[in-house]
Order: sequence, then structure tokens, then C-alpha cells
Amino acid sequence: MVNFMPDNNYEKTVDIIFGRWKSQILYTGVKLGIFDCIALHVKSAYDVANALGLDNKLAYRLLRALSTMGFLKEENDRRGFSITSQGELLRKDHPQTLRDVILLEEGPEHYAIWKYLPTMIKDGKQNSFVREFGCKIFEYRDRNPDYAEVFNKAMSSYSSAQTGWVLEALDNYDFSNIHHMCDIGGGTGHLLGNLLVKYPHMKGTVLELESVINKKELLLAPMLNVSERCFYIAGDMFCSNNNSQLPSVDAYIMKMILHDWNDEECVVILSNIYDSSPSHARLFIAEHLVPNPNIPHFSKLFDIHMMCVASGKERTLDEYSSLLEQSGWKYIQTHHPKQQNGLIQVIEGSKL
Ligand SMILES: C[S@@+](CC[C@H](N)C(=O)[O-])C[C@H]1O[C@@H](n2cnc3c(N)ncnc32)[C@H](O)[C@@H]1O
Repeated sequence: MVNFMPDNNYEKTVDIIFGRWKSQILYTGVKLGIFDCIALHVKSAYDVANALGLDNKLAYRLLRALSTMGFLKEENDRRGFSITSQGELLRKDHPQTLRDVILLEEGPEHYAIWKYLPTMIKDGKQNSFVREFGCKIFEYRDRNPDYAEVFNKAMSSYSSAQTGWVLEALDNYDFSNIHHMCDIGGGTGHLLGNLLVKYPHMKGTVLELESVINKKELLLAPMLNVSERCFYIAGDMFCSNNNSQLPSVDAYIMKMILHDWNDEECVVILSNIYDSSPSHARLFIAEHLVPNPNIPHFSKLFDIHMMCVASGKERTLDEYSSLLEQSGWKYIQTHHPKQQNGLIQVIEGSKL
């Protein structure tokens, strides 16, 4: 007779095997608007189904599954379901909302690209986004307004934690000589806008693709009251020296940009910044840094996502230093957020 008692390893493995079930259940709850619907009052499945136009019985099973994962609480007296503090993170108006992150990462496009992972690793050719959709992610975004909205909101949603880590990592940095900073690929301006709030002597420019800055209602500078010091310009960071669209300013920052691109593409971007900048310029690169072998880290998982979604990858500090060197920059130092769980670091480079 087999006498098998599941141990810790078995339970951990089972949990990982069914991880996708959990994220799809959560995605469905968010997509259907469950968290905003239950936000203020305990609601029965019947009331939720009525409010959102859902099937009553299937809605009950979804709410029960969301409860078993800790996002809702099923009240003992059968009155219905209330939201937990974990569930609050999925509400639209939570300041650190993860709603848009799950809508992007578990939505149909990003769900579809994972199926190519074994083939890509056999072939040695990454970027399953192109395999599935026939074009690169930013081209696809520019042609599909619904995806564009989800993508751009998700970047701001990721930023709600990441901007905090960058500000914290640079907390002791002397910004007095930086009067104008450019955020390259700065999205809707979450990071730059918050830097301008913290350093009122600074002006800033977000350089972005036209399709992003055309969506005026999503731009964050007005919401942060820094519009008078924050400019949005349409430009392409790949355009080189003769035709450079990068402004000449005291400092440049790039958050979650280089990880989208392969080494050759990164050297083009970094060289373009080098060629467009004054001799005193500083460069700040905010990215996940892959730590030494055997140290578990989110960057090692995000790296596989980058394999699927683009030509990029997550890199070690040595790999970033080498990219800086290949494009003329000198590595100065790395700034770390104080929080132990801060997932991104800021690498500083200079021209001198
Ligand atoms: C991963 S997102 C990061 C956005 C933002 N920095 C953040 O951390 O939220 C990459 C950004 O690069 C922008 N981008 C892509 N290609 C670009 C190009 N050729 N020139 C300028 N920006 C570009 C995209 O529009 C997108 O907003």
C-alpha cells in the first residue's frame, strides 16, 4: 500500500501548478467589476449578479473562489460577500491599485503568448508577441486602442510602487545641479511627475511615442499639479544623432525601458542619449537587477515574461555596466531603495 503524506515541497509544487487558475480567477473578478461592486457594502451573489448583469449561480461560484484566495470574505450568516484588504488592491480607485496590471498580464494578448515558450527556448528565438500577432508589442498597441488603454494604464499601475522605490533610492541624491530632467519612454509621466513634485526647482520633459502622449486624459502631470514644469514631447529614442529627437538636458531617466530591448538595441538608445546630451549629463536607469545565482528574485521570472513579450531581458549589474561602457557612458554607482522588498534599483551613469 502506498503511504504518501504530502510534504512542503509537494504543496508548494501543487500551488505553482495551479497558479494560472488563480490568476485567471482573479482576472475574471477584476474584468467583471466584482471588486468595485462589492467595495462599500456586503453584497449577496444575487445582488452582484444583478448589478453586473451576470448569471446568479455562476457568479456565486466565482465569488466563493475569490474568497478562498483571500480577496473577498464570505460572511458566515450568508448575507453575502465583503471585500478584504487584499481585495481592496484590485479596486479602481486604490492608490496602489493592481487592477490594471492583472488586466494586462492575464488579458487575452499576454495570455496567448506564453504557449510558445518551449518552442522559443528550442529555437533560440524570443519574442512570441511577434509570433502570435505578427508585429512588435508597441506597433500592436498603436493599432489597437483597447489594448493601448489597458497597456498604458498598467504601466502607471506598475509605477505606483516603482516610482516610490526610485524616489526612495534617490532620496539622498543631490539634485541641486539638475534643473531639467528628461524621462525617456516616460509613459504618462508617473515617475517624472512625482520627481517634479518632490524637487520643485526642476523642470521635466517626458519623451514618448506620439500615440501615448496623444491620450491627453491619461497624462498625469495635470493631476499632480506640475503641468507648468512638465512637458510632453513626441519622439523616438532610436532616432540617431543627425535626426535626434532627444532634448539636451542635465539628466535623463529611464524606467523599465532597457529591459524591453536586446543588447544591440540598448546600445543604440544609450548612444543616442550620449550624443544628444551636454558633457555634464547624468543618466539614471531604473530596472530590476538580477542578483547572483541561487538568490530567488522576481527579476528571474520577469525575465521570462520579457522573453515572451519583446526582444529584451532582465540583466545583472555587470550587464548594465557593460551596456553603459559600450555606448560611451561611465558607470558611477547603484542606488538601492531602503525597503527590503523594493524590486528595482537605480543605476547612475555619467559622461565624464
Ligand atoms: C515598459 S513601458 C515603460 C513606461 C514607463 N517608463 C514606466 O516605467 O511606466 C515602455 C515605454 O517605452 C515607450 N517606447 C517604446 N518605443 C519607444 C521609442 N522608440 N521612443 C520612445 N519611447 C518608446 C512605450 O511607449 C512605453 O510607454
